[in-house]
Amino acid sequence: MKVLVTGGGGFIGSHLSEAHLERGDEVWALDTAPNLKVRHLLSHPRFHYVKASVLDAEAMEAFVLRCDLVYHHAAVVGVEHYVDDPFNVLNVNIHGTINALRLAHRHGKRLVLASTSEVYGRNPKVPWKEEDDRVLGATTMDRWCYSTSKAVGEHYAWAFQRMGLEVSVVRYFNVYGPRLDKIDVGRVITIFMGQLLRGESLTVIGDGLQTRCFTYIDDAVRGTMAAGLVPEAVGGVFNVGDDRETSILELARTLLRIGGRDPQKDVRFVKQEDIYGPRYEDIPRRVPDITRLKNVLRAAPRTSLAEGLKTTIDWFKRETETKPALTSSAGESPRP
Ligand SMILES: NC(=O)c1ccc[n+]([C@@H]2O[C@H](COP(=O)([O-])OP(=O)(O)OC[C@H]3O[C@@H](n4cnc5c(N)ncnc54)[C@H](O)[C@@H]3O)[C@@H](O)[C@H]2O)c1
Repeated sequence: MKVLVTGGGGFIGSHLSEAHLERGDEVWALDTAPNLKVRHLLSHPRFHYVKASVLDAEAMEAFVLRCDLVYHHAAVVGVEHYVDDPFNVLNVNIHGTINALRLAHRHGKRLVLASTSEVYGRNPKVPWKEEDDRVLGATTMDRWCYSTSKAVGEHYAWAFQRMGLEVSVVRYFNVYGPRLDKIDVGRVITIFMGQLLRGESLTVIGDGLQTRCFTYIDDAVRGTMAAGLVPEAVGGVFNVGDDRETSILELARTLLRIGGRDPQKDVRFVKQEDIYGPRYEDIPRRVPDITRLKNVLRAAPRTSLAEGLKTTIDWFKRETETKPALTSSAGESPRP
């Protein structure tokens, strides 16, 4: 099988590309980023890295044409972008998705669209089933632009499905693992990781009682591949995540424990406004209902948080020592 992964130079895309190569497939990873996260794949005879933007439909078309299956994972991701550059988030996530869907539809290719738990917004009724309501704040809060951009992509997916496109949507819940961002930027685990590796206190935003369901990358990739390969997945939307809830404080303490530090003393609490400014709003709880992931995709998560974090810490330690370019965030917006 021939597979196109847009955003294939990113965290999930690089793992997905690797998993398809292991399955014996040929993979084109299309991305605007440098090829740092797929450097280990560049010499593989069935792997091709294409430096192009999903905003450039003409450039993308040649690769959609030669593939059987498209994973659309290219997106502008990360809270810092939602608050700093909402235009870029909306533009890439909406127009890039329309381009990918239109091309897959035009050439009769199956497509898996990467979406997010953020589409449920702050719906207080957890666990969230795929058909549950989206509960969002005002459009003047930039914070909601990512959620909205992804939901617009989903609407377009269903619109193209009516016109004959074979499409499925996966909504990820805090996926983590090796190659997740650079330390100090991006998501909570990489921010904690930088602090942990430097021997600093871990900064917990607010009281740390907000929860997330952390999903190990291998589990997310199994769910995603099933969405692309299982016939019953066509036309479906799937929560792809672990349903075990972990508070941010608990996450910090678990990381400290694994890292051999004091889980009680080495935590520092900071105010949310000091980090993201007044235009950000956190979600207190985010929990998926994973009945469909288990019953339709047959891809229940298998990796415990402790096991996944240990592998992730070991990877970041090793890479920081040997290949700092992949993990160092020098020059990028550091967090307190
Ligand atoms: N990791 C998670 O927990 C998570 C959660 C929810 C949703 N998602 C979704 O999964 C997908 C992959 O996320 P990720 O965690 O791997 O993030 P990532 O930032 O590592 O990957 C996204 C990739 O898209 C690329 N990209 C950005 N703009 C592009 C453009 N114009 N053209 C081509 N490539 C472009 C980036 O360079 C990056 O490599 C995204 O669609 C994201 O919204 C991820």
